[in-house]
Amino acid sequence: MTTLSKSVRKAVLPAAGLGTRFLPATKAQPKEMLPVVDKPLIQYAVEECVASGIENIIIVTGRGKNAIEDHFDASPELEAFLERKGRQDQAELVRQIGNLVRSSYTRQKEPLGLGHAVLEARDMVGNEPFAVLLGDVIMTGEPPATRQLIDVYESTGEGAIAVVPVEREQVSLYGIVATDPPIERDGRQIYRIRDLVEKPSPEEAPSTLAVVGRYVLPGEIFDYLERTEPGRGGEIQLTDALRQLAKERGLWAVVCEGKSYDAGDKLGFLQATVEIAMENPEFGEAFRTWLRSLKA
Ligand code: G1P
Repeated sequence: MTTLSKSVRKAVLPAAGLGTRFLPATKAQPKEMLPVVDKPLIQYAVEECVASGIENIIIVTGRGKNAIEDHFDASPELEAFLERKGRQDQAELVRQIGNLVRSSYTRQKEPLGLGHAVLEARDMVGNEPFAVLLGDVIMTGEPPATRQLIDVYESTGEGAIAVVPVEREQVSLYGIVATDPPIERDGRQIYRIRDLVEKPSPEEAPSTLAVVGRYVLPGEIFDYLERTEPGRGGEIQLTDALRQLAKERGLWAVVCEGKSYDAGDKLGFLQATVEIAMENPEFGEAFRTWLRSLKA
């Protein structure tokens, strides 16, 4: 086990994107606030942070995203109203959201890319390792994906990112990694990353292992991001900075246990909604029965 001087205490949640894949729902509403069953998308990522031992989250927002900040703030009027009505359970639920985690906010003033959004959090993160969670990806699994990546970081002393195998026709939606054959570490298979390409064509893709929106990175990534020129789509890509980090410092890919849903996409959102609703303790059984009746 490598001895690390710094533990992973912070997470950056980029939430400045315009959500164009989900228009018209996202015209006036942040895509991060779209509800999957009974929680906004971004709350799944925040709860994953909490379950992974993260103490501070930094949300990178942009114009029109105030609802995110309000959601994680205290809500004294609403709590008092619910208490007056004798709805203690709901009052407690609302209070818990405000107390989930210590959250800070910074803004990305121009949509210059995911890498640029992460770089906006540099001053708040400082020179320590941190997690990045893309709020439109919901990952289920126990332990949570971010915890699995922190474990790999603590074991190797190098960054780790979650990947999933995808169909070759889908590679152009993702960052794709080229890796060495897997090695076993602490009972899990990890892959040393040799190269990363942002949204390659099926012919160019070096593999079908896709970057899925969970990263645990050393503080040095900010130096790499500073030097990263605009890439795919004219944007500063996190993938391009990771490519240099992988070559110069080392980076691991981990196929995390559990499922992932790209809920920033309409089909992925519906899949997440249906599967999470089926597991709901309150109405999951009734929902499954209803789904079965549709097939008949
Ligand atoms: C981003 C990243 C990409 C990653 C994907 C996962 O792309 O740039 O490397 O594979 O998230 O969801 P986006 O979906 O924001 O275009």
